[in-house]
Amino acid sequence: MKASILVLAGDGIGPEVTAEGTRVLRAVGAKFGHTFTLRDALLGGVAIDRTGTALPAETLALARASDAILLGAVGGPKWDDPLAKVRPEQGLLAIRRELVLYANLRPVTIHPKLVGASTLRPEVLQGVDLLVVRELIGGIYFGEKTREPDRASDLCVYTSDEVRRVVRRACELARGRRKKLTSVDKANVLESSRLWRRITDELVRKEYPDLQLEHVLVDACAMYLARRPASFDVIVTENMFGDILTDEASVLAGSMGLLPSASLGDGPRGLYEPIHGSAPDIAGRGIANPYATILSVAMLLRYSLALEKEAAAVERAVSRAIDRGVLTADIALPGTPAATTVQAGKAVVEEL
Ligand code: IPM
Ligand code: MG
Repeated sequence: MKASILVLAGDGIGPEVTAEGTRVLRAVGAKFGHTFTLRDALLGGVAIDRTGTALPAETLALARASDAILLGAVGGPKWDDPLAKVRPEQGLLAIRRELVLYANLRPVTIHPKLVGASTLRPEVLQGVDLLVVRELIGGIYFGEKTREPDRASDLCVYTSDEVRRVVRRACELARGRRKKLTSVDKANVLESSRLWRRITDELVRKEYPDLQLEHVLVDACAMYLARRPASFDVIVTENMFGDILTDEASVLAGSMGLLPSASLGDGPRGLYEPIHGSAPDIAGRGIANPYATILSVAMLLRYSLALEKEAAAVERAVSRAIDRGVLTADIALPGTPAATTVQAGKAVVEEL
């Protein structure tokens, strides 16, 4: 097949990890006979430096003309002035919203070899295989904001349509898995959560009666993720809760550097990015873990290009590279030398 993929390397370790993602994409193209046309564009801090805006119009136009987008990370101390009018993160939020990518899929699985990389006890990690579906373009991130010298506010708004479309996507995914859906909210306090819970209940009762649905308050969910993570299958939640819970969930896998994500809307076009940030402290040193980005490439192949066989091959190749002990500093076993970013990317290509 032919596909055009836009690469938004972004800031910090973004260029280093996306370089390995595209290395793997090229290898998949060569091995399976696909023509992937890769283009680069600016997003985030680099875009602010060169154009004055975090999401240049040209980048957005290229994104709309692409079949899929691979993104590294945005942000860094250089653009961190709290009073600045433009911030790198605005570019990321804007592209998610402009492309109406409302469902953010963040799977968490544990490689047996990396059980020791987690701070949790091995028996707690036994059998963990969960998927967080985070609403991505609504809620407190996008509500009206105000800022005065001594007062500031962020409004959290959800409409029933916004809740329904993301919960429906989570239900479809749960149907292909263990058929258990956990909806996370704060319905004991927030009106937006009470709406979320009512719409979710109605939808599942009417359209997905085969699923087992539970409602869990977000504070309790944070605790259960650390105490009994294997009990979860699909978790669906609003934007900010999903942001926070997935950083927590990355501890299960052993490192933020292992968790991929897919941001999807109604059509096949999606945005794929590791859930980690730009890690300015290690940027430019060639030591960042590229596996989260490479696993995001696998999700890109699966969800935007419908290349399931190729997606599974990339996931297997990452797993084998880990088996072989090609581990970057964040997950290296005690007493063994850490792999570089490039070594990890090349190991995946070899395994492919
Ligand atoms: C994420 C990140 C972003 C978010 C930031 C960089 C704006 O933390 O993708 O999880 O909060 O969505
Ligand atoms: Mg986050």
